[in-house]
Amino acid sequence: MKKITVIPGDGIGKEVMEAGLTVLESLNLNFDFLESEAGYECFQKNGTTIPEKTIKNAKKSVSTLFGASTSTPGEKSPIITLRKELDVFANLRPVKSFKGVDCIYKDLDFLIIRENTEGLYSQIETIENIETKNNLDIKATATRVITKKASERICDFAYKKAIEDNRKKVTCVHKANVLKKTDGIFKNSFYDISKKYSVTNPEILANDYYVDAMAMYLITKPHEFDVIVTTNLFGDILSDEGAGLVGGLGLSPSANIGENNGLFEPVHGSAPDIAGKNISNPVAMILSIAMMLDFLNEKYYGNQIRLAIEKVLATKRVATPDLGGNSKTMDIAKAVIKELD
Ligand code: NAI
Ligand code: MG
Repeated sequence: MKKITVIPGDGIGKEVMEAGLTVLESLNLNFDFLESEAGYECFQKNGTTIPEKTIKNAKKSVSTLFGASTSTPGEKSPIITLRKELDVFANLRPVKSFKGVDCIYKDLDFLIIRENTEGLYSQIETIENIETKNNLDIKATATRVITKKASERICDFAYKKAIEDNRKKVTCVHKANVLKKTDGIFKNSFYDISKKYSVTNPEILANDYYVDAMAMYLITKPHEFDVIVTTNLFGDILSDEGAGLVGGLGLSPSANIGENNGLFEPVHGSAPDIAGKNISNPVAMILSIAMMLDFLNEKYYGNQIRLAIEKVLATKRVATPDLGGNSKTMDIAKAVIKELD
């Protein structure tokens, strides 16, 4: 039996995880679920946001499912810790519109691939008191780590994914005009890798944009994009923008992929504003589970789940408030299971 670590976390993380697991269990696949703790409530109970046991479980599992956690001031972020511990270096965030969902663009389908292990998420920050001209000030500095190795690894991954999904363009997003050294490495690594693939896969185009222009192009000409590869923080920001283009965070899944491990989670957080009411949209979580099934070589089931969700959203018979309806979290899960049958 394949081991899957399950971390519901806080707030709506618990609600969407329950709904997602109900869908997954309905497929009767041979999985052994290791329920594990992390997040704010875990900190209140155990004095840590991510116990060693949880990390151990995740390391011995083929995949981990993560709901969402509420941030705990001054404490480690469980999701960032897990991404590092599992060395899941590629964060995949598909941006896809669905029939039946009110959104800015109707027929979008592109993939944002975010470098997951360094950049401004390296969490190297210092703070000090400094003296200026007859004055005191506080100075904080964050270190943005970019290595050639990690840049090449993520750009290579982006090309492999483009080939696998039959996509025709890879766009690199950076700010090499200002961050000359760090993003200089990232941009050059991208073109080194793209040169290699231009021999084997000349059908795949390569281009690059500065991140500020990209923020605009995602709104003015999003159909131009197929695969976008970028550094950690830019990927974080642009993927929320992407979610906004296609109907919100309740529909946006993500996968964190490494050499031997996968970590799957909705893009959204614990949503304290709606937590506890059972009205959160579980589609992002269920689509993240579909991405896990792809990763575990169960692509057939991944596709079945995606098709079932497309049907449920298109008919609009059940819809949570973020989609304009008044259904409950579990109503969506039940409708998906009915379509799967
Ligand atoms: P959020 O994603 O939790 O919520 C943003 C807005 O989107 C809220 O209005 C929320 O109600 C709505 N929303 C999000 N997911 C939804 C869903 N499935 N169905 C319906 N509506 C949904 O982001 P926010 O408010 O900035 O952060 C809340 C907490 O979550 C914070 O403590 C933050 O640090 C944490 N967070 C955790 C993440 C994670 O665990 N991976 C990611 C982002 C935030
Ligand atoms: Mg984010």
